[in-house]
Amino acid sequence: MNEIISLIKQKAANYKAEVIALRRHLHQHPELSFNEHNTSEFICQKLTEYKVEFQKGIVKTGVVALIKGKHPDKKVIALRGDIDALPIQEENEVDYRSKNAGVMHACGHDVHTASLLGVIKILSELTDKFEGTIKCIFQPGEEKLPGGASLMIKEGVLKNPSPTAIFGQHVYPQLTAGKVGFRKGMYMASTDELYLTVIGKGGHAALPHLNVDPIMIAAQTLIALQQVVSRGANPIIPSVLSFGKIQANGATNVIPDKVYMEGTFRTMDEAWRKAAHEKITTIAEQTAIAMGGKCEVEIRKGYPFLVNDEELTAKAQEAAELFLGKDNVVDLDVRMTAEDFAYYSQEMPACFYRLGTAFKDKTNSGLHTPTFNIDETAIETSIGLMSWLAVNELVD
Ligand code: NI
Repeated sequence: MNEIISLIKQKAANYKAEVIALRRHLHQHPELSFNEHNTSEFICQKLTEYKVEFQKGIVKTGVVALIKGKHPDKKVIALRGDIDALPIQEENEVDYRSKNAGVMHACGHDVHTASLLGVIKILSELTDKFEGTIKCIFQPGEEKLPGGASLMIKEGVLKNPSPTAIFGQHVYPQLTAGKVGFRKGMYMASTDELYLTVIGKGGHAALPHLNVDPIMIAAQTLIALQQVVSRGANPIIPSVLSFGKIQANGATNVIPDKVYMEGTFRTMDEAWRKAAHEKITTIAEQTAIAMGGKCEVEIRKGYPFLVNDEELTAKAQEAAELFLGKDNVVDLDVRMTAEDFAYYSQEMPACFYRLGTAFKDKTNSGLHTPTFNIDETAIETSIGLMSWLAVNELVD
């Protein structure tokens, strides 16, 4: 065990500079969700260079590489890296800043992609040290519904060969580079978009008795909907219902015909999620009816909740402690943000962990901001640990 760890550590140290260069190339050439054509091409080029078997064109820009150890059929483990960028104009003054106007790797998927390439480079040189196959999934479209993960699963990415477990990592600007974080069980929320249109009957604001006021209906509806979480949700299941947009284009003396509202519902239990959708719809529709109007409710389902398999994650956390030292492995809190890795976690034992990428002595910008960046020393941790987590599943 110690031999393989030190081999991986050596290789991670040796290839760190190369993977940083890959990351910088990807960072300079970001592409939006489901349009990652050059990114996909770049990944394929590298895989060819590394002499690794791969298949491209899955959900157009997705790529899957296979690294076969001894007895390749014995066990299959999957690793996932997402490859898409965001519609943000980069404001970092670095020489590798984005060359694509209005597009930026502001969620660190450049790091995930470069790291997975680094892991492949490391593992393809260690195929006599493990038994089984490592399936590496370069996944498009994490940032955009319906999520590249769901589409890749539909196209059969979890078959031929079928992995028995999957790992994914995500950069984390709240944690110093060199550290990583794990959480067993529920970790990230399901996310659904709510679109409500309250329809009344507009008219002169001085003559309310002749109108059906959709603003009053909307106000009652918003208050009534607060019961969904406060009275409907089991207190041990995290749930959030928030509205961020209300539009009513009347005037001081005009009651409008319609009010339009947008919100989000997030939770961590699929049965409750379904029940909550019904409650939201019933409350909104019936409140409007009771007040003489109508409400049209549209719920666009997003990603499911992300659950980290208890056993797999406990084993991975222990392996990470062995690899990085106990002080460098932390427990994470649950998060109400979403991630399409959740789709894999609904299909098989999964472990989604965070890679600390924060600079020690600098302010660190959050994910999805124009000044997000990483301390690149995290790359060595990233490629070493991910290689080790995969191999740890494939050695006795
Ligand atoms: Ni992300």
